[in-house]
Amino acid sequence: MIALTGASGKTGTVLADLLSETGTPHVRLSSRPGVGDRRFDWLDRTTWAAALDGVDTLYLVKPPHGSGMAERVAALLEDRTGIGRVVLLSEMGRGDKDPEDPDRAVERVVEAWDGEWTVLRPSWFLQNFSVGGGFHDDVTGGTISLPTGDMPVSWIDTRDLAEAALVVLTEDGHCCRGYTLTGPESFGVAELARRLGAAIDRPVAAADPLGVDDILATYDDGTERGAYYAELLVDVAAGRYAEITGDTADLIGREPRTFDDFVRDHLADWE
Ligand SMILES: NC(=O)c1ccc[n+]([C@@H]2O[C@H](COP(=O)([O-])OP(=O)(O)OC[C@H]3O[C@@H](n4cnc5c(N)ncnc54)[C@H](OP(=O)(O)O)[C@@H]3O)[C@@H](O)[C@H]2O)c1
Repeated sequence: MIALTGASGKTGTVLADLLSETGTPHVRLSSRPGVGDRRFDWLDRTTWAAALDGVDTLYLVKPPHGSGMAERVAALLEDRTGIGRVVLLSEMGRGDKDPEDPDRAVERVVEAWDGEWTVLRPSWFLQNFSVGGGFHDDVTGGTISLPTGDMPVSWIDTRDLAEAALVVLTEDGHCCRGYTLTGPESFGVAELARRLGAAIDRPVAAADPLGVDDILATYDDGTERGAYYAELLVDVAAGRYAEITGDTADLIGREPRTFDDFVRDHLADWE
């Protein structure tokens, strides 16, 4: 049976639907009582055993900005010996980070584990801009507050990411490697705002772009969350989210969805 952490999130909800459609046994985990099928809290180890009872495959989503995750993932993999396969949702470029980087540290724990593991490293999600995404209200408010201007990002639709995750969770042949998952086009926040505004027939602007020093000064407020976010923006500003790979198409067996596909299917989100 497959357990989905992050089952209420941007990839987990789509993945749960795909598993239901294909009749694949799974449980949806959530840290919130009454949400999902079983309660699982990364921060509360007493929830782990019951949540993962009978589970042999784990879709591993880290809570955003959670600290100490490498230690928690290591403890979980040591405890839960019934788990034989783990698919980790990481992030584009994390494989090249220093070993101390919190996201890379989690990748390293999974890569050192002796079960079947796969690391998914997606680009930024288009669903950050639709309902439930952190920038949805920016779109309806008319200004997207990402200061990365025209630096290209190979935006991915989380429906394609979930399809790719379904493949590596349920099929053999993906052990012990990473996939860099991207959409088919690469363009910056400024162009995204222009195209989105044209599609919904309302002006949508992008925040003025900032250089690396200004990004750090503005966003790195000394908190872990601030440091994480600032580094993410610096990576985008350095073009590290621009690459377009063939990994998504290789896994899902067709070209990934375009920005226009995403907008067409989410128009009601911005009414
Ligand atoms: N957003 C992007 O553009 C993007 C791009 C590349 C990679 N990623 C990666 O994708 C991952 C998910 O990020 P996201 O922003 O898209 O979030 P998300 O998956 O939409 O939501 C986060 C999930 O974490 C769960 N969660 C929160 N606290 C938890 C806890 N204490 N224990 C267990 N589960 C907890 C939440 O479920 P409950 O509240 O129901 O527990 C929720 O389902 C992150 O690791 C991020 O680095 C995101």
